[in-house]
Amino acid sequence: MSESDFDDSQAYFAAIAESYDRLQPVVVGPAYQAGLDFMLELIPHGPDDAFVCVELGCGTAVLAEGVLERFPAARCIAMDNEPAMLEIAGKKLAAHGDRAEVRMAEAATAEMPECEVVLSSFVLHHVPPEDLPGLLGRTAAALTSGGCAIILDTMEAGPRWGEQIGAASGHLYRAHVQAAIASGRATQDEIDGRWAFKRKMKEEGRDVEHSHSAGDIMAAMSVAGFDEVGLVWRQFAFTIVMAFLRP
Ligand SMILES: C[S@@+](CC[C@H](N)C(=O)[O-])C[C@H]1O[C@@H](n2cnc3c(N)ncnc32)[C@H](O)[C@@H]1O
Repeated sequence: MSESDFDDSQAYFAAIAESYDRLQPVVVGPAYQAGLDFMLELIPHGPDDAFVCVELGCGTAVLAEGVLERFPAARCIAMDNEPAMLEIAGKKLAAHGDRAEVRMAEAATAEMPECEVVLSSFVLHHVPPEDLPGLLGRTAAALTSGGCAIILDTMEAGPRWGEQIGAASGHLYRAHVQAAIASGRATQDEIDGRWAFKRKMKEEGRDVEHSHSAGDIMAAMSVAGFDEVGLVWRQFAFTIVMAFLRP
């Protein structure tokens, strides 16, 4: 799969949707799966609890699927603004019947359904700083008392920090990609093609990313009304922030 195998008449996430589940854990690096797995561990509910979980910017709904499998009495609402991603998410979650719902939703304006848990992975870097307070405010307002939000994303401290962390983690990343190639999960051409496509889409302004520090996000969550906000996991820039409302 080369750069030209991605359809650039589409939006970035529409073009990569079909190969997303196979390539994303390779392209992002070892922290992708480790972070998602740890988010599921952090959900503050027992296996038989009935609760509603919203996955914001669900993509192919990897997290929602994990929640529905681990918590048989839970319901999940998976939200995203990309139809191609939602189509895959909908097919994946269909096995869970009316415990799962997918919704088209724009993070900057979406109505958040009432819920006990909000999960969001690798989405806030697509949200401009000026939209963060509104989004996090609507998130806090949607949560029932005692509810929590668990957010995973790359959170950098600045360009020099990012460069240094990138260099220091490079050998782990390369070993991860080589292991995926050796196992037959992906080819070097596919990985190179995906990075080249991402660079092109960024240059054309069609894959816009924003750099938020962990401090920015935690401060915005406190202002949004969360009572306890803390950083719970970090691998280089990959960071999980967890925040609770008072019971
Ligand atoms: C990097 S993917 C992450 C998907 C999934 N959460 C994961 O961890 O694999 C970012 C997702 O956020 C969605 N997204 C980006 N900007 C968004 C916005 N403003 N509103 C809603 N969804 C958005 C994209 O369509 C995409 O599915």
